[in-house]
Amino acid sequence: MKIKKAVIPVAGLGTRFLPATKTVPKELLPIVDIPAIQYVVQEAVDSGISEVIFVTGRGKDSIEDHFDEAPELEQVLEGRGQTETVKNLRRIAEMIEVVSVRQKRPLGLGHAVLCARDLVGDEPFAVLLSDDLIEASVPCMQQLVEIFEEKKESVIALRRVPEQEVQKYGIVQGKQLSDRLYEVEDMVEKPRPQEAPSRMAIIGRYILRPEIFSFLEKVTPGKGGEIQLTDGISKLSREKKVYGYEFEGEHYDIGDKLGFVRATVAYALKRTDLKEQVREYLRTVIGEK
Ligand code: UTP
Repeated sequence: MKIKKAVIPVAGLGTRFLPATKTVPKELLPIVDIPAIQYVVQEAVDSGISEVIFVTGRGKDSIEDHFDEAPELEQVLEGRGQTETVKNLRRIAEMIEVVSVRQKRPLGLGHAVLCARDLVGDEPFAVLLSDDLIEASVPCMQQLVEIFEEKKESVIALRRVPEQEVQKYGIVQGKQLSDRLYEVEDMVEKPRPQEAPSRMAIIGRYILRPEIFSFLEKVTPGKGGEIQLTDGISKLSREKKVYGYEFEGEHYDIGDKLGFVRATVAYALKRTDLKEQVREYLRTVIGEK
């Protein structure tokens, strides 16, 4: 049972990044010069996934276009002798097979995943959210794939967060099985610190068994009037085992403004073409304070 398909929901409104997201999909906002979604698709590819299913919405067509060929642009660049840039663009178009399905209204992440049901079929699949960027020597999704291959049950990515941040995440109640592995017993969406069952937060990487769809069908709108994926997984965990894995790697929540800035600085500092200048610039800025 190999994980071949990844669902990437991109139909949200991206309200936290307005006005930037009035016409530009949040998923295409760049971290330096690479759209966030490209990092996430790259992680899927590096984890052995061979097909990406985008759940898209109105105004999001440019996300699919980003992973398509751009012959006119390539022709102009060829004419200017920019062959390296052309190679780069081709590589993006050849990265992976992309299909898409529409979520007509943004009724929530759980609903978005449910929209991919027919395209996923009766097999376990990955879900990646482009709000979460994870830098790791073994890609985060690959870490989950390894747990799935051993357990053959759903696995979700976890990260320990400070107490004051629990209300930004879905939080897990679970039994610790080993250093990084948990058995999920329940989940609560964005609890207040005093009501949180733990500090283990659900990060946007999941491997789900296809049974999740029948549970998602039964989920009624929860927090924020949305059909929450967390509620579906919580129902699933009462019938089948669901594991949580505290992945190794650095996580950036780029759905949040500060997280977006952190990721931009961190990724720039890793770029050989930029790091020296950026470091120098940061020193100047801090020195000026
Ligand atoms: P978020 O809730 O973080 O994204 O959902 P959002 O709603 O677009 O952003 P804000 O909170 O208003 O700023 C996480 C992911 O799930 C997708 C989003 O596109 C995002 O990638 N999503 C969310 C859907 O595809 N459909 C939905 O109904 C909700």
